[in-house]
Amino acid sequence: MTLMFVTSWNPNGEYGRAWQQRLRDRDPGIDLRVYPDTMGAPEDIDACLVWAPPGGLMASLPNLKVVMSLGMGVDHIFRDAQYPAEVPVCRVVDDDLIERMSEWCVHSVLHYHRDGDKYDADQANCVWNPMPHMHATERRVGVMGLGAIGADTALKLRALNFDVAGWSRSPKDLPGIESFHGDDQMGAFLGRSDYVICLLPLTPETEDVLNARAFDAMPKGGVVFNAARGAHVVDGDLIAALGSGQLSYAKLDVFREEPLPEDHPFWRHPKIRVTPHNAGITNPDTAVEQILDNYHRARDGQPLNNVVDPARGY
Ligand code: GLV
Repeated sequence: MTLMFVTSWNPNGEYGRAWQQRLRDRDPGIDLRVYPDTMGAPEDIDACLVWAPPGGLMASLPNLKVVMSLGMGVDHIFRDAQYPAEVPVCRVVDDDLIERMSEWCVHSVLHYHRDGDKYDADQANCVWNPMPHMHATERRVGVMGLGAIGADTALKLRALNFDVAGWSRSPKDLPGIESFHGDDQMGAFLGRSDYVICLLPLTPETEDVLNARAFDAMPKGGVVFNAARGAHVVDGDLIAALGSGQLSYAKLDVFREEPLPEDHPFWRHPKIRVTPHNAGITNPDTAVEQILDNYHRARDGQPLNNVVDPARGY
């Protein structure tokens, strides 16, 4: 049974080497191939651990039994139009990753809520200018997507006294969190959310969800945080909403093109803060066991864990 490691970034860089090492540490007998250098014959490959594999590669492996995403998202796999529909896809579901992601969200909300940028600028100019600020209970936060990361984020912000609601495809029951669901309730959800945090999976239904209509539905001066995927945001609509004052700020970790091109207007926009898709990175130390478990399950013909429903895309 052969596992191939396939990444759109250098698989032999520091992070890629850490994955290879952990896999070998925990399964010393593993037949681990690294694409493209040590792939060998296509028919040798039984399982793949991937990030954004090249289009057509998975379809070219006749004995492939499972594809495992290196992250929680799987859009980077299904965007391959030739993906072989019969091969199951599993994703990482790991507390370490969930906690890193919700930490980015909580940090970003608190930084804006407590005027972090203003005080950083004041310090740079030796200005002493304390301002009144709102209590967290007065701030209405809306979390789009109440999967594992969204739920953790919503509950942590609720514990910090924010007025938190969530929106998801189907109704969710989380203590202290008002739940909105489905297309019909999206407008009401946005209308009560001063801050919107996007943590949705990227699917054909959620692509472009943060568009002019969504921004207009939010209270004037709203704030958008995106830690999901760049394709959730219509870039031009975001810039227009910030320009008109409909939105007052956006913090983005993900972009349609990554790395964010040097000439992209987001880099220099005074009301946009950018982080380089590092809100959460899968930790090989904590996630390697579930990868190997699914690899062994595929070998033994056992049911796989964290299998994605291809129709839903998550
Ligand atoms: C990161 O973007 C992930 O999908 O885990």
